[in-house]
Amino acid sequence: MTGRPAPARPRVHVTPGRGWLNDPNGPVLLDGRHHVFFQHQPDSLEWGPMHWGHAVSDDLLHWKARPIAMKPDSDGVVYSGSIVQDGDGPLLAYYTRVSPDGVEAQCLATSDDGDEWHRHHASPLLVPPEGVTDFRDPKVLRYGDSHWVMVLAVGEEVWFYRSDDLLTWVFTSRFGRGYGAHDGVWETPDLIDLGDTWVLSVSVISGGPVGGSGTQYFAGTFDGDTFTTEDTGVHWVDLGPDFYAPQSWWGVEDSTWLGWMSNWSYAARVPADTWRGVLSLPRTLTWDEGLVQTPAPPFAGSRAGTDRLELVAGRLRVEGDRYELDVRGTRLVVADGLLTLDRTATGPEGGAPVAQAAVRGGALEVVVDTCTVEVFADGGRVALSALVYPDLDQHELRITGDVDTLEVEHYD
Ligand code: FRU
Repeated sequence: MTGRPAPARPRVHVTPGRGWLNDPNGPVLLDGRHHVFFQHQPDSLEWGPMHWGHAVSDDLLHWKARPIAMKPDSDGVVYSGSIVQDGDGPLLAYYTRVSPDGVEAQCLATSDDGDEWHRHHASPLLVPPEGVTDFRDPKVLRYGDSHWVMVLAVGEEVWFYRSDDLLTWVFTSRFGRGYGAHDGVWETPDLIDLGDTWVLSVSVISGGPVGGSGTQYFAGTFDGDTFTTEDTGVHWVDLGPDFYAPQSWWGVEDSTWLGWMSNWSYAARVPADTWRGVLSLPRTLTWDEGLVQTPAPPFAGSRAGTDRLELVAGRLRVEGDRYELDVRGTRLVVADGLLTLDRTATGPEGGAPVAQAAVRGGALEVVVDTCTVEVFADGGRVALSALVYPDLDQHELRITGDVDTLEVEHYD
């Protein structure tokens, strides 16, 4: 598919003011306001020397751009990382600094407001052991009342560290060999306590569910030092082509994360004019014999008494046994226990045209926002996300088949 139009800016998703965006970094709730940072190159539509961009929101739907939070300097560029807060102290951003000679080391910066950041003098806190090149994306979390944990992506493994003072980090264990998908380097790990189950997510640069990059998860236990699971199989977080490098929030009650909606196999080629890259809607995470993801902002839909609708950005809840939704040229088909997303007419060049998932039934939730489609089925046990580039004047939503209920919420 060539020559798709550059999209209008999404209304309820984080995008860069100009230039390039990839991974979300350090989402955090501070004084009642959500801050999201992201991998950013303001001067180009392609990946380059990385900055941390910054956006804020009061409702997890509408985002306002803030000035760039961290910039490259003579010490290096600013790769992915996470944010924690110790009590009422400053925000602590742990990130990977890549020096001009290519060494990946973990650094710390602090901020009182999310806008102004200062590199901590103890940086770098953690340098790679001799011979280790891929050593990045620190995710820091608190293990109960006990200590702090850092999870790092190292080659095709995840390494765990512990700390009492947030400055000195001691290696505790490693995980990965013989587990899950290994078609490429592992990136941007996260470790989330979902009650009786701990979820360890990790993104893989190739070999994803429909080709290219994707994010897998492991379910197991974590004792503060070691992650353990008996399951060596592959479980994808999202069965669509465009959900990568998700990262969970610090400071919210319910586990919540968001990801980058793209795929390293074609990210640099998706239609764009002045900006390129979009983050997913924040998703609440729970565990029910598998990872359950549901859009975090509340759904305020109302019943629509028509089967012919216009929709640029909005959310649908559809119930029925066998039906087809045509959302601005992207087809969503539910039939015989199978959900199919077909973006043959709207997908980016080089992207897989079709993604599929087995579904049990019940309502389908679909969030559409100019160039994004996020589908949640089986109460969130199935998630499927894709970039789409319909013609700009194509606003029509059509539904055919057996639909019992349809609710719609429009986003302005
Ligand atoms: C994942 C990733 C990270 C790295 C960042 C660089 O998409 O490759 O491993 O920190 O992007 O922008």
